[in-house]
Amino acid sequence: MSASLANLMEEGRNAVLRPLAQASTLPPRFYTSPDIFEAERERVFRRNWVSVGRASEIPDAGDRFRIDVAGEPLMIVRGKDTQIRALSAVCRHRWMLLGEGAESSGTIACPYHKWTYALDGTLMAAPLMDKAEGFEHDACVLPSFACEVWNGFIFVNLSSDAEPLARSLTPLAEEFAPWKMDELEIAGRVEFDQPCNWKVLADNFMEAYHHFAIHPETFEPNYPAAISHAEETNAPWAALRMPHRDGALSETLFEPLDGIPDSARRGFSVFNVYPSMLLAVLADSVIWYRMEIDSVEHFKLTIYLLVHPQALDVPDAETLRSFLRDGAFAVHMEDIPACDGVQKGLLSGSARAGRLSHLEGAIHEQQKWLMAELDRP
Ligand code: FES
Ligand SMILES: [Fe+2]
Repeated sequence: MSASLANLMEEGRNAVLRPLAQASTLPPRFYTSPDIFEAERERVFRRNWVSVGRASEIPDAGDRFRIDVAGEPLMIVRGKDTQIRALSAVCRHRWMLLGEGAESSGTIACPYHKWTYALDGTLMAAPLMDKAEGFEHDACVLPSFACEVWNGFIFVNLSSDAEPLARSLTPLAEEFAPWKMDELEIAGRVEFDQPCNWKVLADNFMEAYHHFAIHPETFEPNYPAAISHAEETNAPWAALRMPHRDGALSETLFEPLDGIPDSARRGFSVFNVYPSMLLAVLADSVIWYRMEIDSVEHFKLTIYLLVHPQALDVPDAETLRSFLRDGAFAVHMEDIPACDGVQKGLLSGSARAGRLSHLEGAIHEQQKWLMAELDRP
């Protein structure tokens, strides 16, 4: 570790590793330094489970999609055995990216020289390679990475000794059980290009302190900033509760899901399942922010709107879907100028770590977790 990175890490510990009432945010350079970004890739995103998609997006053998995790090009593929695999999307010939084209096919053909792989990554055919001495098909299998489906979400872990995902998430699975998240259907998706550090959005998502300023009409009237509260989870996720004003029932577009606790009908909760799975769990739906992080100052955001199939079994389901999409779009559009402004401010020479409000406990939780991961040997 370079001296300047070691100094920055020390500054980070001093800001964050203390009780919330005495804590500050991480210093601005944690959001802007390419060295920190590199450390996050290596120590956080290559060593933890990262959510990449929904199993229902690839229902049939041969279905696939491309995504990068920590700069690693991956292809998420459903095999003939129904297993979902995370395969390297880099051809074993001369590194062409695979899987950019066809979204479903019984094989994976490289667009460059048509080396063709099976859905489990084994090389089946390589045209005109018969004069390459000692060429072995078996040596050209696509590397695969740990891949698990949890509550219908596909997760990938790039490390070779990944702990099973479910073990660390047991208490969260218990809280989520009434939502039957593995059955949720994608009611819509909205995509955004986000020119800011990924943590700017993670911070924004995990505090309701800004509701009265940024969402005075959408959130503050029903979910006021002042009564939001973060939990000290001591777990690999942060949780923020946003009760409805006066304990009233939340208005919902779809029928509230059966069997969810009363508290979930009188407010909603958001979670960051570390490092970067942002979830809003509502009485009638779940909203997932998928971040595909490609640089220190950019990521692609896909907002997934998830609802129960029964909820869609109504005559005006299409109208409700579009209301849900428009609502998510409108709320996020309110957050964009805040994130853009913060990103610009972070780059200023005069920016420094700022003190946290008692309403920003979830930011404090996730920054403590991040520091611990960066410090983990
Ligand atoms: S790079 Fe894939 S076949 Fe040549
Ligand atoms: Fe917001």
